[in-house]
Amino acid sequence: MHVLIINGSPRVKKYSNTDKILEKFTQGMCENGTTFEQYEVSDKAQWDSIREAFNKNKNILIALPLYVECIPGLLMEFLETLTPKNDGSKIAFILQSGFAEGIQLRCGEAYLEILAGKLGCEYKGTLVKGDNFSIRFVDDKMKNKVTNPYTEMGREFAAKEDFNSEACKKFTGPEIFPPHVRLLIGILFRFPARKGFKMLAKNLGCEQPLDYKPYS
Ligand SMILES: Cc1cc2nc3c(=O)[nH]c(=O)nc-3n(C[C@H](O)[C@H](O)[C@H](O)COP(=O)(O)O)c2cc1C
Repeated sequence: MHVLIINGSPRVKKYSNTDKILEKFTQGMCENGTTFEQYEVSDKAQWDSIREAFNKNKNILIALPLYVECIPGLLMEFLETLTPKNDGSKIAFILQSGFAEGIQLRCGEAYLEILAGKLGCEYKGTLVKGDNFSIRFVDDKMKNKVTNPYTEMGREFAAKEDFNSEACKKFTGPEIFPPHVRLLIGILFRFPARKGFKMLAKNLGCEQPLDYKPYS
């Protein structure tokens, strides 16, 4: 199988968590001889080539981050330039996000199933996984801890050619945290995490407080 992979993140390749996930995913996927070509929606200079590849390839995988509980606007803008296929092509998705609970990705997942039909492709499922915020900010050891499990999912995809197996469904992790974990996270976000966010903002050159409301 040869797979056309489209990274749907608006973040440039170097900073994209989706790209780091794809790095590990494709390692596993290629073990059985599967090949791929990858494009980045963040680079508008590639859009003509992506359209050409979309028209030419029969196995398509779009990997995308959840942005404000839905698909990134830039990816949507690109998708609107495609002509539906209706030639027996298959499409699957990797939908990944920052927060860990699977439930917040389900609306996006349902949308992607509809999208497959609108693109004139057979829907081959969505690999749904949160808890990826840290990839961009941590050292290689921690980054690998988060991204390594995707290698197994790459193997699974190469073998089954879809994301419908039990292993893929289990990969999502907890659909919703139990009450005591939710309480703990609430406390954590109110105090220590807030301190962490402040430091992060300062390091990114932010000069205003986090609750600054310039338009209010
Ligand atoms: C503008 C924006 C909106 C986001 N919205 C969500 C969200 O609704 N839920 C969530 O879990 N993560 C959200 N995230 C986190 C991203 O999904 C997460 O960090 C992802 O790994 C980013 O992948 P990328 O670097 O390839 O774009 C958001 C990030 C950004 C920048």
